[in-house]
Amino acid sequence: MVKSDEKVYPPPDDVVSSAHIQGKEYSELYRQSIENPDVFWSLQANKLLTWNKKWRSDTAICAYNFDTSLGPINIRWFEGSELNLCYNAVDRHVEAGYGDRVAFYWEGNDVEQDGKMTYQELQNLVCQISNYLKSVGIKKGDDVTIYMPMIPELPAAMLACARIGAVHSVVFAGFSAESLASRIQDSKPRLVVTATGSKRGPKEIPLKPIVDEALDICSKQGHMVEKCLVYDHHQAVSKESVNFHSGRDVWWQDAVLTQSTSCPVERMDAEAPLFKLYTSGSTGKPKAVLHTTAGYAVGAAATFKYVFDYKPGDIYWCTADCGWITGHSYVTYGPLFSCASQVLFEGVPTWPDAGRCWQIVDKLKVTIFYTAPTAIRALNAKGDSYVTKYSRSSLRLLGSVGEPINPEAWRWYYEVVGNSRCPIMDTWWQTETGAHMITPLVGSTPLKPGSATLPFFGVEPCICDEKGNEIHGEGEGLLMIKRPWPSIMRTVAGNHDRFEKTYFGMFKGMYFTGDGCRRDSDGYYWIIGRVDDVINVSGHRIGTAEVESALVGHPACAEAAVVPVEHAIKGQAIYAFVTLMEGYSHPPQDPTLKEALIGAVRKAIGAIATPDFIHWAPGLPKTRSGKIMRRILRKIAGKEEESLGDISTLADPSVVETLIALRENS
Ligand code: WT7
Repeated sequence: MVKSDEKVYPPPDDVVSSAHIQGKEYSELYRQSIENPDVFWSLQANKLLTWNKKWRSDTAICAYNFDTSLGPINIRWFEGSELNLCYNAVDRHVEAGYGDRVAFYWEGNDVEQDGKMTYQELQNLVCQISNYLKSVGIKKGDDVTIYMPMIPELPAAMLACARIGAVHSVVFAGFSAESLASRIQDSKPRLVVTATGSKRGPKEIPLKPIVDEALDICSKQGHMVEKCLVYDHHQAVSKESVNFHSGRDVWWQDAVLTQSTSCPVERMDAEAPLFKLYTSGSTGKPKAVLHTTAGYAVGAAATFKYVFDYKPGDIYWCTADCGWITGHSYVTYGPLFSCASQVLFEGVPTWPDAGRCWQIVDKLKVTIFYTAPTAIRALNAKGDSYVTKYSRSSLRLLGSVGEPINPEAWRWYYEVVGNSRCPIMDTWWQTETGAHMITPLVGSTPLKPGSATLPFFGVEPCICDEKGNEIHGEGEGLLMIKRPWPSIMRTVAGNHDRFEKTYFGMFKGMYFTGDGCRRDSDGYYWIIGRVDDVINVSGHRIGTAEVESALVGHPACAEAAVVPVEHAIKGQAIYAFVTLMEGYSHPPQDPTLKEALIGAVRKAIGAIATPDFIHWAPGLPKTRSGKIMRRILRKIAGKEEESLGDISTLADPSVVETLIALRENS
């Protein structure tokens, strides 16, 4: 668990005096957001976005039911309103005379690769993509799957969908063909957008062959994707190297860039679906988290502006990929709603060396830098000289997201990267929450390293014990949220029942986050981590069930149980206990079996789910009713067997000793 180093970092005076929210304003506004959400959110919605039609004023700004015993879970914000998020992200800025402002500074994997795209150019491109989508019959409500590298065409494709009312589903281009196929199979798009490939570090990553394989799998399962739009990203992988399926495949450069650069904007209802994003849970396949239009937009716009304290002139850089929620809310939507100029980076922070981020910061005069603890720890491990070699004098604010940041990493980020000048916004939130939930505000929140600090406007967290009793004041327990905020997910697409059970089935009338949390005597929140069977590897969620099912898919594997172990860089790593089929010894004779099992996981999910450890297990600790006791496996994996606790309820307590003995052979 993360412990405070006691030192508190109050916001520096000059930061306070220029911040959007200053000093005590936070508590005033927070109180208003809770006591009078109609007034608070109307004001913000009017200020932050341009509406085709305003929400009804004769009903509450949010209509909802959070209690399954009263009927289905149902959340509606800004009812009666209409707006278009692409218009808000792009067109209105061009109309206001900011067409020449840079929207994206693109930095390729290799140092000499770069480019720029202004708001005017983005508008032209988005219109061309939209016109292409329309020309092949994509219309309001249709799904489009996007599997692309971090190039401006990726957010542009998302915005093109939003422009015509299509629902985008971006799949991170590190997921395997099987993973991509199962997401395509779930949302059944008629069109998939991809690129020839990408380059990340020394590796060329062909993407088109992965899409080919995924589309093959889908057609065998009965879903035929009609069109595959392929961007020739020749700086990474050229078109000559990929297979072209005529009839289905279309080159972006031919089909999109020949379209008209004007395209009307669809008026979208407040609750019209905007996107699906698949995320891992404790059981089964990844869920399609569904976000809708108005509330999501208000959440993304408000948090971007207030948490990053964005002002014109800032150069903003979020290192997340658009394949994750961070890339949706804090690359594509939030910053563009504010007409920000931002960096889009295709490479990795350690290529060509660990100074790459700071080289880019100096080159583009980045003022706001937002990344994940895993990247901070990886760069810290390479030594300070890669950082101090660059001036970083443009930086004024740093952000962290994805997992709890340990105080050592926090201090290095603060002292070395930020020269003890730049406050760190440790933002706790989730794919499901759409936007920041617990976070400092730069002009008002004294920082404590390792704490995400205080709730954002409109967020009412609550800590409960295992029985669902609320813990007031100081205490530790399950983190719940008592009422909806604008950008909360609305359902699991195609499975509302799963939505209700997962998020509202824990305790009556509250949203369950899946995280454990402590509140200290100052009311600060300290996220402890997931309490469910979700592993947070480098800030990415991997479900234990998904990894187990990939392992069991291998013919030699009879049973598998996966648990997290602490990892110095990744935060958590994947540790798999594997029972082999009859006839195999533990460890097995075959020295290649371990690699084969790891390969099975990479194939089923992707490299991010690679297990770091395979522990041969002739038997697993089970209760008499056959339930695997993961608590015990976690202790064995973490070498903490002195605190195993009671193992007398096991059907066969001797398996524990066998497993400990086999640990060194694994
Ligand atoms: C889970 C959500 C939100 C975008 C990235 C991850 C963990 C996220 C923090 C933070 C402690 C954090 C939680 C959460 N998490 N941010 N600042 N401090 N933990 O999105 O994949 O939906 O994962 O990430 O455990 O539940 P996600």
